[in-house]
Parts: sequence; structure tokens; C-alpha cells
Amino acid sequence: MCGIFGYYGRRDATPILVEGLRRLEYRGYDSSGIAVKNNGINIYKKSGKVERLSEMITTEVEGTIGIAHTRWATHGEANDINAHPHLSFDGKVAIVHNGIIENFREVRRNLTQKGVELNSETDSEVLAQLIALELAKGSKPIVAVRRILKRIHGTWGLCAVFSDHDQIIVARNGSPLVIGKGTDETFISSDPHALMEHTQEVYFLEDGDLAEIDHTGFKITRMSGQLSSTEVTVLEEEWGEVELGEYPHFMIKEIHEQAEALRQCIAGRTRHKQGTVKLGGLKLTPAEMRAIPHVRLIGCGTSLHACQIGQIAIEELARVPAVAHVASEFRYNNSVINPKAIHLAVSQSGETADTLSAVKEIQLKGGSVWGIINVVASSIARQCGMGVYIHSGPEQAVASTKAFSNMAASLILFAIQMGRTRSFSAERGRELIDNLHTIPGQIEKYLANPGPIAEAVDAVIGAKSVLFLGRGVSAPVAREGALKLMEIAYIPCMAYPAGEMKHGPIALLEKGSPVVVIAPNDKLKYKTLSNIQECKARGAKIILIHEEGDDELAEEADISIAVPKSEGLLSPLLTVIPTQLIAYQAALKLGHDVDRPRNLAKSVTVE
Ligand code: F6R
Repeated sequence: MCGIFGYYGRRDATPILVEGLRRLEYRGYDSSGIAVKNNGINIYKKSGKVERLSEMITTEVEGTIGIAHTRWATHGEANDINAHPHLSFDGKVAIVHNGIIENFREVRRNLTQKGVELNSETDSEVLAQLIALELAKGSKPIVAVRRILKRIHGTWGLCAVFSDHDQIIVARNGSPLVIGKGTDETFISSDPHALMEHTQEVYFLEDGDLAEIDHTGFKITRMSGQLSSTEVTVLEEEWGEVELGEYPHFMIKEIHEQAEALRQCIAGRTRHKQGTVKLGGLKLTPAEMRAIPHVRLIGCGTSLHACQIGQIAIEELARVPAVAHVASEFRYNNSVINPKAIHLAVSQSGETADTLSAVKEIQLKGGSVWGIINVVASSIARQCGMGVYIHSGPEQAVASTKAFSNMAASLILFAIQMGRTRSFSAERGRELIDNLHTIPGQIEKYLANPGPIAEAVDAVIGAKSVLFLGRGVSAPVAREGALKLMEIAYIPCMAYPAGEMKHGPIALLEKGSPVVVIAPNDKLKYKTLSNIQECKARGAKIILIHEEGDDELAEEADISIAVPKSEGLLSPLLTVIPTQLIAYQAALKLGHDVDRPRNLAKSVTVE
């Protein structure tokens, strides 16, 4: 989604800004631009890829102060004019903005009444115009920005440069912004990954923070003008640059990294002798775990599907009621919060606005939230203050793969830890732990010989729609498989719990309709088998993901993809992989940009 990069120092700003934008590309965007201060403010902006922008900057733009942006369109189409930065009517201020100005219509109206002509259709442009009007009254830049933000409703990660002042002013409210401290230079970004090549010393701004950046460094204050308590964080090495290596795309690289990522996730967390798990970041004693009345899991997209697996694992192993919630709905449904309950916010990026809002809502109502997060020190991780890092390592492809597996695995670890305080024996715990430790090797074994993926791809790419079915823990896998194929191959997909298929989606089945069925050899196998028969009776083509050696089931398939045998609850960690491969290969065959699918963003920072 939208990304910000900024530079204040002694070096030429332009190449640093363009490189910063390249590092933000993985988040998904549709236009980009830079503003560099010299004798005035020079702006270059262009729809499309950063590559197009850099081709456009033919003459060297001199200047050591600048801001840059990748835009993911919300208000107004993705064209050159709506791209950021936006320049004020008098040419004195340029801004880049992430977030949404909710009262922008009213602000636009007021500006038009004052004779200010607006160039773009965006909500963001009003910020540049308002700041310019405030500066014209004689205010200093920091005062002008602070004043105008008091009139704005919405969210912002804002950066402004000025033609008449050697300063950058930045502000955060609900949209991440990080300042990187270099030697005699300062960097700004909405994404700490983009700062890693320059510095590891960063300051994550809090909501309500503003910062004044100049030749002396920077000063972070609150909206009230008081000094902010925001402190330095030293970024870990793992945030560094990620290379493709031998792989053509990040998605396939990340699919193959799943075994190692899973090892990292489990490492040091299991206690074989006691048959339990220790997730230190939970900061919960066994007695506290025993007292928990219920668990609620909150996430979006792929993370929601991991939550749904977590829900089943927690109920099965810990015998505690658990429910997975869509974050964007949870936030606004005035949910009843029990302060004794556990709430788990699950997110790869740790920046998803819907999930972050739900976390804040729960906390406001007196509830406690633990993060199940990949990106260290991300907004959700910091907002929760406690939880579990899933240790997938950086995930660059927009379509989430290795993070899904590690989110599901972390929730299973949580279920084992909780279960041991309440319901099952050390022996059962040891069995689960042993089985979990065998999964990475099984992933490697499967990926070395993934079966007839190409045949499955041929069956789905020309289809009007694809139906994904599964029961129990395989129902969320079906949803995840459908989401993956839909988001990168743009094929309409539906996922249903297999038993629900006869209540509606069966109407779509005709001769040759592809149906992907996830059917491990678990207690629900024969139920799923009946649903397979129902599909076959209507001429559907069955692409079956099943357990190695399960010939009874394999015989029912048109295309049969076998994964290694595993304990039922752990089967999603294996059965999801063929669905990822089908999506990847289908998108490739259709000629799509696999890592950066249209309209999507890696980090969805608007509600
Ligand atoms: C799907 C995908 C999205 C994300 C969703 C939540 O491949 O990537 O559906 O899962 O936007 O993102 P996080 O996990 O960062 O909160």
C-alpha cells in the first residue's frame, strides 16, 4: 500500500529517494513521485512503476532535502496528477501522505471558497494547501502543520518539505512512520525495511507525534507541543535486504522457505520432557492460562484463515471456546469484551489498519490483546506489547505463503501450551511436539516432488470459477487456496466447508467444473468423500489433495496430489502447499505479475 520515504542530509537526495521507493515497491502501489528542495520545490511524479518515474528524472535534480511516495489509489484514479507529492497553490509546500482524510470534502469546499484551486481528486492534497495558508500567516512550519492537523479527521503518515525553510516536518496518526538516524543525515520511511541499508537506529513515531527534521537532526514532539517519549529501537539484522537468489519470483522462493521458516518458529519453544510449549512473549503463568474463559482470534485475509485453524486447534487441544473474527467487522460490531479473555491479533505485516483498529477497540473496552506477528516492532506488535513473533523472516511477495504456515503453527503451539495447563497429558503433548518437528522435513520432501501441479493448473486456468472444499482444519485451507488462486491468477474462486456445498454452490457445478478438495486422512475423510461423490455425480473434475498412500481416496480423483502423512491438526501445514503451487503456476501461465498482483497491497494501512 502507500509508502513514504524521505531524506535530509548532505548527499544528493534524488538517487536515495528513488532507491527508497524501490524498497517500498513490494508493498503494492500504482504511482510514485518525489519532491526535492533546491531553489524551489522540484516535483516528479508518474503513474505505474518506479522504473517509469526514474526514467522520467533525466536531468540531475540537485538538492539534499526530499520526500518520496508510492501511492495505492483510494480517492481518485491512479494517474499522474493524483500521484504524490502534492504541491500547494503558491509552490511553497509539498506533501506526501499515507492514510485517509475523512473530512476532506468539507475541507476542499472551504478551500475552494477561499479561492484555492485544487489540482487533484485526492483527499491528501488539502494538506498541502492548508499548510501553505497557515505559513502565509507567518507560522513556522512545525506550528503550521500542528495547527492544520487539529482540523483534520482521519489518519495520516505525513511528510512536508518547504521552499523557504530547510526542514522536513513529519507527523503520524494511525499510519506508520519511522525516522532513521544516520551520521549527519536523517531518513524517514513508512516501512522500517526501507531504512535498513542506511541505519539500524530508528524511532517509531507514535500516534499524535510530529517531528521537525533539520541540519541539527530531529526533534519529536506531541500535538500539544511537549516532547514525545518515543525512544530509539535498534533494528534486527533479519530486516535487511532480501534477494531473489536462484528463484525467479519471491512467491516461489517463500513457498520453498516454508520448511526453514517453520523450524525457526518452533525452535526453542517446545519442552519435550514436559510435553509442552513455552511461548515466553505471552507472559502468562499456567494458573493464568487455566483461568481464561475464551479466546478470540482476529485477522484479515490469509491471517484470518490462520485464525480459523487456530480456533479449531485451541478448542480441540485446550477445550476452551475459541472464535475467529474478521477484523474489519469486529471493530464496528460493538463486541462484548471480557477482560479475562485472551484476544489474539494475527498479522504478517503488523500494520493492517483493520486489525490495528480492532486491537485498539478491545483495549479501550478493558480487554488484553496478544499479537501473533511477523514484522518485529510493527504497529500491532507495539500496540499489543506482548505476544508471539512467528519468525517467518521477511515476506516480499504480496501473496502470503510462509507467514500463513507460521501463523498457523504459532497458534497450534499456543493451543498446546494452553492445552497442557488444562486438558491433555504430557504423553499427548510429546506426541504433538514430535509430529510438529517432523513437518519441516515433510515439507521439503513434498516440494522435491510436488506431483501433477501442471495438470491441476490446466484444469483451473480456463474455468469460469473454481470451487475449493474441505472440512474441519481443511476448511480454512480451502479458503486460503481459493484466496491465493483468486488474488494472483484473477480466477473467480469460492471456498466452502465441504458439507455446506450442497446448500448452494452445488448449483454451479457442470461437466468439467474444477473442484479442489482438501481431504487428509483424518476423522472427517469419509464425510468429505461423500461430498466428492456429489460433485462427481454432476460431472465436476476433482483435484484432490490427500495423504500419501491413501489410495482409497486417490481413486476418486481426476488429478490426485499426495502430501506426506501427518497428524490431523497439523495437516494444514502440508495440504496448503499444493494450493500455493497451483496459484503460483496458474498466475505464471496466465502471464501475471506474480509478486505484485493488480490492485493489491502487501500492507493494508487503510480501513
Ligand atoms: C493474502 C494476503 C492478504 C493478507 C491480509 C492481512 O495473500 O496477503 O489477504 O493476509 O491483508 O495482512 P496481514 O497479515 O499483514 O495483517
